[in-house]
Amino acid sequence: MNTNNLYNKIALSQNENAYGPSPKAKLAVLGTVERMNKYPEYHSKTLQIKLADKLNLNAENVFVSAGLVESTDILIRNFINNDETLIIGEYSFVAYRLLAKVFNKNVRFSKMQNFRIDVNDVLTLCNDKTRMIIIDNPNNPTGTVISEKELIKILNGVPKSTLVVIDEAYIEYVNFKNYPDSLNLQKKYSNLIVMRTFSKIYGLAGLRVGYTIANKELIKKFYNYQAPFSINKLALVAAFHAIDDNNYIKKCHSSNLLCRNKLYHALKDKGVSVAPSESNFLFVHFNTKDLRDSLFNQMQEKNIFVRKTDLFGYDKAFRITIGTKKMNDSVIEYLKEMKLLL
Ligand SMILES: Cc1ncc(COP(=O)(O)O)c(C=O)c1O
Repeated sequence: MNTNNLYNKIALSQNENAYGPSPKAKLAVLGTVERMNKYPEYHSKTLQIKLADKLNLNAENVFVSAGLVESTDILIRNFINNDETLIIGEYSFVAYRLLAKVFNKNVRFSKMQNFRIDVNDVLTLCNDKTRMIIIDNPNNPTGTVISEKELIKILNGVPKSTLVVIDEAYIEYVNFKNYPDSLNLQKKYSNLIVMRTFSKIYGLAGLRVGYTIANKELIKKFYNYQAPFSINKLALVAAFHAIDDNNYIKKCHSSNLLCRNKLYHALKDKGVSVAPSESNFLFVHFNTKDLRDSLFNQMQEKNIFVRKTDLFGYDKAFRITIGTKKMNDSVIEYLKEMKLLL
Protein backbone atom coordinates (compact mmCIF):
# COMPACT_ATOMS: atom_id res chain seq x y z
CA MET A 1 0.00 0.00 0.00
CA ASN A 2 1.22 3.50 -0.75
CA THR A 3 1.80 5.06 2.68
CA ASN A 4 1.44 8.60 1.33
CA ASN A 5 -2.15 7.75 0.72
CA LEU A 6 -2.75 7.22 4.44
CA TYR A 7 -3.10 10.97 4.73
CA ASN A 8 -5.90 10.91 2.18
CA LYS A 9 -7.86 8.22 3.92
CA ILE A 10 -11.54 8.21 3.00
CA ALA A 11 -13.14 6.88 6.17
CA LEU A 12 -16.56 5.49 5.30
CA SER A 13 -16.90 2.62 7.71
CA GLN A 14 -18.67 4.07 10.75
CA ASN A 15 -21.74 5.98 9.50
CA GLU A 16 -20.43 9.19 11.03
CA ASN A 17 -21.28 12.64 9.71
CA ALA A 18 -18.31 13.41 7.45
CA TYR A 19 -19.05 17.15 7.65
CA GLY A 20 -18.07 17.07 11.32
CA PRO A 21 -19.98 18.26 14.38
CA SER A 22 -22.73 20.84 14.28
CA PRO A 23 -21.02 24.28 14.41
CA LYS A 24 -23.38 25.40 17.18
CA ALA A 25 -22.28 22.39 19.23
CA LYS A 26 -18.61 23.16 18.64
CA LEU A 27 -18.99 26.73 19.88
CA ALA A 28 -20.89 25.58 22.93
CA VAL A 29 -18.21 23.04 23.81
CA LEU A 30 -15.46 25.66 23.46
CA GLY A 31 -17.38 27.90 25.83
CA THR A 32 -17.61 25.11 28.40
CA VAL A 33 -14.06 23.74 28.57
CA GLU A 34 -13.11 26.11 31.39
CA ARG A 35 -15.74 24.43 33.55
CA MET A 36 -14.55 20.86 32.99
CA ASN A 37 -13.54 20.75 36.64
CA LYS A 38 -17.24 20.77 37.56
CA TYR A 39 -19.44 17.69 37.58
CA PRO A 40 -22.20 17.50 35.00
CA GLU A 41 -25.83 17.36 36.04
CA TYR A 42 -26.73 14.21 37.94
CA HIS A 43 -29.25 12.92 35.39
CA SER A 44 -29.05 15.42 32.50
CA LYS A 45 -32.15 17.36 33.54
CA THR A 46 -31.55 20.42 31.32
CA LEU A 47 -31.19 18.37 28.14
CA GLN A 48 -34.11 16.15 29.15
CA ILE A 49 -36.38 19.22 29.42
CA LYS A 50 -35.03 20.72 26.20
CA LEU A 51 -35.74 17.50 24.28
CA ALA A 52 -39.21 17.23 25.78
CA ASP A 53 -40.00 20.84 24.71
CA LYS A 54 -38.67 20.23 21.23
CA LEU A 55 -40.69 17.04 20.80
CA ASN A 56 -43.80 18.33 22.54
CA LEU A 57 -43.60 15.74 25.29
CA ASN A 58 -43.40 15.73 29.05
CA ALA A 59 -39.90 15.50 30.49
CA GLU A 60 -40.93 12.34 32.34
CA ASN A 61 -41.20 10.60 28.94
CA VAL A 62 -37.58 11.29 28.00
CA PHE A 63 -34.44 9.45 29.10
CA VAL A 64 -31.04 10.92 28.20
CA SER A 65 -28.24 8.38 27.78
CA ALA A 66 -24.55 8.14 26.97
CA GLY A 67 -25.26 7.31 23.33
CA LEU A 68 -28.15 5.21 22.16
CA VAL A 69 -26.06 2.17 23.03
CA GLU A 70 -26.26 2.93 26.76
CA SER A 71 -30.03 2.79 26.48
CA THR A 72 -29.84 -0.49 24.53
CA ASP A 73 -27.51 -1.88 27.16
CA ILE A 74 -29.93 -0.97 29.97
CA LEU A 75 -32.84 -2.49 28.05
CA ILE A 76 -31.22 -5.79 27.16
CA ARG A 77 -29.44 -6.21 30.49
CA ASN A 78 -32.35 -5.38 32.77
CA PHE A 79 -35.68 -5.66 30.99
CA ILE A 80 -35.41 -9.27 29.77
CA ASN A 81 -35.51 -12.22 32.17
CA ASN A 82 -33.43 -15.27 31.43
CA ASP A 83 -36.42 -17.36 30.37
CA GLU A 84 -37.65 -14.65 27.99
CA THR A 85 -36.57 -13.87 24.45
CA LEU A 86 -35.51 -10.94 22.31
CA ILE A 87 -36.36 -10.78 18.60
CA ILE A 88 -34.13 -8.88 16.17
CA GLY A 89 -33.64 -8.91 12.39
CA GLU A 90 -31.18 -11.46 11.02
CA TYR A 91 -29.08 -8.56 9.65
CA SER A 92 -29.33 -5.80 12.19
CA PHE A 93 -27.24 -3.44 14.33
CA VAL A 94 -24.42 -5.49 15.77
CA ALA A 95 -24.77 -4.10 19.33
CA TYR A 96 -28.08 -5.92 19.88
CA ARG A 97 -26.60 -9.36 19.37
CA LEU A 98 -23.38 -8.52 21.20
CA LEU A 99 -25.20 -7.19 24.27
CA ALA A 100 -27.58 -10.16 24.25
CA LYS A 101 -24.57 -12.47 24.24
CA VAL A 102 -22.82 -10.61 27.04
CA PHE A 103 -25.92 -10.73 29.25
CA ASN A 104 -26.86 -14.29 28.29
CA LYS A 105 -30.23 -13.48 26.76
CA ASN A 106 -32.08 -15.68 24.30
CA VAL A 107 -32.27 -14.17 20.82
CA ARG A 108 -34.50 -15.16 17.92
CA PHE A 109 -33.51 -13.78 14.52
CA SER A 110 -36.32 -12.88 12.16
CA LYS A 111 -35.80 -13.67 8.47
CA MET A 112 -35.66 -10.60 6.26
CA GLN A 113 -37.06 -10.22 2.74
CA ASN A 114 -34.92 -8.33 0.25
CA PHE A 115 -32.90 -7.03 3.20
CA ARG A 116 -36.02 -5.55 4.82
CA ILE A 117 -37.62 -6.56 8.10
CA ASP A 118 -40.46 -8.97 7.36
CA VAL A 119 -43.15 -8.15 9.92
CA ASN A 120 -44.95 -11.44 9.28
CA ASP A 121 -41.84 -13.36 10.18
CA VAL A 122 -41.36 -11.22 13.31
CA LEU A 123 -44.93 -12.04 14.37
CA THR A 124 -44.47 -15.75 13.62
CA LEU A 125 -41.51 -15.82 16.00
CA CYS A 126 -43.47 -14.18 18.83
CA ASN A 127 -44.83 -16.30 21.65
CA ASP A 128 -45.60 -15.87 25.34
CA LYS A 129 -41.87 -15.77 26.10
CA THR A 130 -41.18 -12.79 23.82
CA ARG A 131 -40.28 -9.87 26.05
CA MET A 132 -38.84 -7.53 23.46
CA ILE A 133 -38.55 -6.84 19.74
CA ILE A 134 -35.88 -4.40 18.59
CA ILE A 135 -36.03 -2.98 15.07
CA ASP A 136 -33.60 -0.41 13.78
CA ASN A 137 -35.53 1.78 11.38
CA PRO A 138 -33.70 2.53 9.08
CA ASN A 139 -32.01 -0.80 9.53
CA ASN A 140 -28.26 -0.95 9.93
CA PRO A 141 -26.53 -2.37 7.84
CA THR A 142 -29.12 -2.54 5.04
CA GLY A 143 -30.55 1.02 5.15
CA THR A 144 -34.09 -0.25 4.52
CA VAL A 145 -37.17 0.88 6.47
CA ILE A 146 -40.51 -0.43 7.63
CA SER A 147 -43.65 1.65 7.11
CA GLU A 148 -46.12 2.95 9.67
CA LYS A 149 -48.59 0.26 8.56
CA GLU A 150 -46.01 -2.47 9.16
CA LEU A 151 -45.12 -1.13 12.58
CA ILE A 152 -48.81 -0.99 13.51
CA LYS A 153 -49.16 -4.60 12.39
CA ILE A 154 -46.47 -5.61 14.86
CA LEU A 155 -47.97 -3.47 17.64
CA ASN A 156 -51.41 -4.98 17.07
CA GLY A 157 -49.97 -8.49 16.90
CA VAL A 158 -48.23 -8.58 20.28
CA PRO A 159 -49.48 -8.28 23.86
CA LYS A 160 -48.75 -5.06 25.82
CA SER A 161 -46.23 -7.05 27.87
CA THR A 162 -43.98 -7.29 24.80
CA LEU A 163 -41.84 -4.19 24.43
CA VAL A 164 -41.51 -2.98 20.84
CA VAL A 165 -38.32 -0.96 20.57
CA ILE A 166 -37.67 1.17 17.50
CA ASP A 167 -34.12 2.41 17.05
CA GLU A 168 -34.33 5.62 15.01
CA ALA A 169 -30.63 6.47 14.99
CA TYR A 170 -30.87 7.65 11.37
CA ILE A 171 -34.33 9.26 11.40
CA GLU A 172 -33.00 12.67 10.33
CA TYR A 173 -31.88 11.20 6.99
CA VAL A 174 -35.21 9.60 6.10
CA ASN A 175 -37.37 10.81 3.19
CA PHE A 176 -39.79 7.89 2.94
CA LYS A 177 -43.29 9.33 3.22
CA ASN A 178 -44.82 6.33 5.01
CA TYR A 179 -42.14 6.31 7.69
CA PRO A 180 -43.82 5.70 11.06
CA ASP A 181 -44.72 8.65 13.28
CA SER A 182 -43.59 6.65 16.25
CA LEU A 183 -44.13 9.39 18.85
CA ASN A 184 -47.73 9.67 17.78
CA LEU A 185 -48.15 5.88 17.91
CA GLN A 186 -46.91 5.94 21.49
CA LYS A 187 -50.14 7.69 22.47
CA LYS A 188 -51.97 4.47 21.67
CA TYR A 189 -49.28 1.85 22.29
CA SER A 190 -47.70 2.21 25.72
CA ASN A 191 -45.29 -0.67 25.00
CA LEU A 192 -43.59 1.25 22.17
CA ILE A 193 -40.11 2.55 23.01
CA VAL A 194 -38.26 4.92 20.66
CA MET A 195 -34.50 5.48 20.76
CA ARG A 196 -32.52 8.23 19.00
CA THR A 197 -29.01 9.64 19.00
CA PHE A 198 -26.84 12.70 18.48
CA SER A 199 -24.13 10.48 16.93
CA LYS A 200 -25.33 10.60 13.36
CA ILE A 201 -26.60 13.74 11.61
CA TYR A 202 -25.65 15.98 14.58
CA GLY A 203 -22.06 14.76 14.27
CA LEU A 204 -21.45 14.05 17.96
CA ALA A 205 -20.54 10.34 17.90
CA GLY A 206 -17.37 10.94 19.90
CA LEU A 207 -19.23 12.63 22.73
CA ARG A 208 -21.85 9.90 23.31
CA VAL A 209 -25.36 11.30 23.72
CA GLY A 210 -28.65 9.64 22.88
CA TYR A 211 -32.21 9.67 24.15
CA THR A 212 -35.14 7.36 24.59
CA ILE A 213 -38.85 8.16 24.60
CA ALA A 214 -41.31 5.91 26.40
CA ASN A 215 -44.09 5.89 28.96
CA LYS A 216 -43.17 7.42 32.31
CA GLU A 217 -42.99 4.13 34.26
CA LEU A 218 -40.47 2.73 31.79
CA ILE A 219 -38.48 5.97 31.77
CA LYS A 220 -38.29 5.87 35.57
CA LYS A 221 -36.79 2.39 35.29
CA PHE A 222 -34.22 3.57 32.77
CA TYR A 223 -33.06 6.30 35.18
CA ASN A 224 -32.95 3.83 38.08
CA TYR A 225 -30.55 1.64 36.13
CA GLN A 226 -28.31 4.50 34.96
CA ALA A 227 -25.15 5.46 36.84
CA PRO A 228 -25.16 9.10 38.00
CA PHE A 229 -23.12 11.56 35.91
CA SER A 230 -23.18 9.09 33.04
CA ILE A 231 -23.22 11.84 30.40
CA ASN A 232 -20.35 14.27 30.52
CA LYS A 233 -20.66 18.04 30.64
CA LEU A 234 -19.31 18.72 27.14
CA ALA A 235 -21.61 16.14 25.59
CA LEU A 236 -24.64 17.65 27.31
CA VAL A 237 -23.89 21.19 26.21
CA ALA A 238 -23.08 20.06 22.65
CA ALA A 239 -26.35 18.16 22.28
CA PHE A 240 -28.32 21.03 23.83
CA HIS A 241 -27.11 23.38 21.08
CA ALA A 242 -26.88 20.90 18.19
CA ILE A 243 -30.57 20.23 18.36
CA ASP A 244 -31.29 23.84 17.34
CA ASP A 245 -28.81 23.82 14.45
CA ASN A 246 -31.51 23.58 11.79
CA ASN A 247 -29.43 24.97 8.91
CA TYR A 248 -26.68 22.47 9.53
CA ILE A 249 -29.11 19.55 9.74
CA LYS A 250 -30.81 20.66 6.52
CA LYS A 251 -27.47 21.00 4.73
CA CYS A 252 -26.30 17.55 5.88
CA HIS A 253 -29.62 15.96 4.97
CA SER A 254 -29.70 17.35 1.43
CA SER A 255 -26.04 16.61 0.73
CA ASN A 256 -26.59 13.04 1.95
CA LEU A 257 -29.60 12.58 -0.29
CA LEU A 258 -27.79 13.88 -3.35
CA CYS A 259 -24.60 11.88 -2.73
CA ARG A 260 -26.48 8.72 -1.80
CA ASN A 261 -28.41 8.79 -5.07
CA LYS A 262 -25.26 9.46 -7.08
CA LEU A 263 -23.33 6.65 -5.42
CA TYR A 264 -26.28 4.27 -5.62
CA HIS A 265 -26.44 4.75 -9.39
CA ALA A 266 -22.67 4.61 -9.83
CA LEU A 267 -22.63 1.23 -8.06
CA LYS A 268 -25.61 -0.03 -10.02
CA ASP A 269 -23.94 1.07 -13.27
CA LYS A 270 -20.98 -1.03 -12.24
CA GLY A 271 -23.32 -4.03 -12.03
CA VAL A 272 -23.33 -4.26 -8.23
CA SER A 273 -26.47 -4.88 -6.16
CA VAL A 274 -27.36 -2.17 -3.67
CA ALA A 275 -30.30 -2.10 -1.25
CA PRO A 276 -32.50 1.02 -1.40
CA SER A 277 -31.42 3.17 1.54
CA GLU A 278 -33.15 5.81 3.65
CA SER A 279 -30.00 6.40 5.63
CA ASN A 280 -26.47 7.77 5.44
CA PHE A 281 -25.03 4.54 4.08
CA LEU A 282 -25.53 1.95 1.35
CA PHE A 283 -25.58 -1.83 1.66
CA VAL A 284 -23.62 -3.28 -1.27
CA HIS A 285 -24.19 -7.01 -1.71
CA PHE A 286 -22.74 -9.74 -3.89
CA ASN A 287 -23.36 -13.33 -4.90
CA THR A 288 -20.27 -14.57 -3.11
CA LYS A 289 -17.95 -13.52 -0.33
CA ASP A 290 -15.00 -13.60 -2.76
CA LEU A 291 -16.64 -11.01 -5.01
CA ARG A 292 -17.35 -8.85 -1.98
CA ASP A 293 -13.75 -9.19 -0.80
CA SER A 294 -12.42 -8.34 -4.25
CA LEU A 295 -14.15 -4.95 -4.37
CA PHE A 296 -13.52 -4.33 -0.67
CA ASN A 297 -9.78 -4.90 -1.19
CA GLN A 298 -9.62 -2.68 -4.25
CA MET A 299 -11.31 0.08 -2.31
CA GLN A 300 -8.86 -0.33 0.53
CA GLU A 301 -6.01 -0.05 -2.00
CA LYS A 302 -7.45 3.35 -2.91
CA ASN A 303 -7.66 4.23 0.77
CA ILE A 304 -11.44 3.98 0.85
CA PHE A 305 -12.39 2.28 4.11
CA VAL A 306 -15.80 0.63 4.21
CA ARG A 307 -17.28 -1.93 6.62
CA LYS A 308 -17.76 -5.63 5.95
CA THR A 309 -21.10 -6.71 7.36
CA ASP A 310 -20.11 -10.15 8.67
CA LEU A 311 -20.65 -9.18 12.30
CA PHE A 312 -24.11 -7.88 11.41
CA GLY A 313 -25.08 -11.35 10.17
CA TYR A 314 -24.28 -11.18 6.44
CA ASP A 315 -20.88 -12.08 4.96
CA LYS A 316 -21.42 -11.22 1.29
CA ALA A 317 -21.78 -7.46 1.58
CA PHE A 318 -20.15 -4.30 2.75
CA ARG A 319 -21.64 -1.08 4.00
CA ILE A 320 -20.39 2.25 2.74
CA THR A 321 -21.13 5.49 4.56
CA ILE A 322 -22.11 8.51 2.49
CA GLY A 323 -19.35 11.08 2.96
CA THR A 324 -19.05 14.70 1.92
CA LYS A 325 -19.68 15.66 -1.71
CA LYS A 326 -15.91 15.68 -2.28
CA MET A 327 -15.42 12.24 -0.75
CA ASN A 328 -18.36 10.90 -2.70
CA ASP A 329 -17.03 12.21 -6.00
CA SER A 330 -13.63 10.62 -5.30
CA VAL A 331 -15.26 7.27 -4.52
CA ILE A 332 -17.26 7.42 -7.75
CA GLU A 333 -14.16 8.36 -9.71
CA TYR A 334 -12.14 5.48 -8.21
CA LEU A 335 -15.00 3.05 -8.74
CA LYS A 336 -14.76 3.58 -12.47
CA GLU A 337 -11.20 2.20 -12.38
CA MET A 338 -12.04 -0.87 -10.32
CA LYS A 339 -12.48 -4.33 -11.81
CA LEU A 340 -15.50 -6.36 -10.94
CA LEU A 341 -15.42 -10.11 -11.40
CA LEU A 342 -19.18 -10.51 -11.61
C1 LIG B 1 -28.99 1.48 14.32
C2 LIG B 1 -27.98 2.10 15.24
N1 LIG B 1 -28.31 2.38 16.50
C3 LIG B 1 -27.43 2.94 17.33
C4 LIG B 1 -26.16 3.26 16.94
C5 LIG B 1 -25.18 3.84 17.91
O1 LIG B 1 -25.68 4.98 18.48
P1 LIG B 1 -24.84 5.73 19.59
O2 LIG B 1 -23.57 6.22 18.97
O3 LIG B 1 -25.73 6.83 20.01
O4 LIG B 1 -24.59 4.76 20.70
C6 LIG B 1 -25.75 2.98 15.65
C7 LIG B 1 -24.38 3.30 15.23
O5 LIG B 1 -23.87 2.95 14.23
C8 LIG B 1 -26.69 2.39 14.77
O6 LIG B 1 -26.35 2.09 13.53
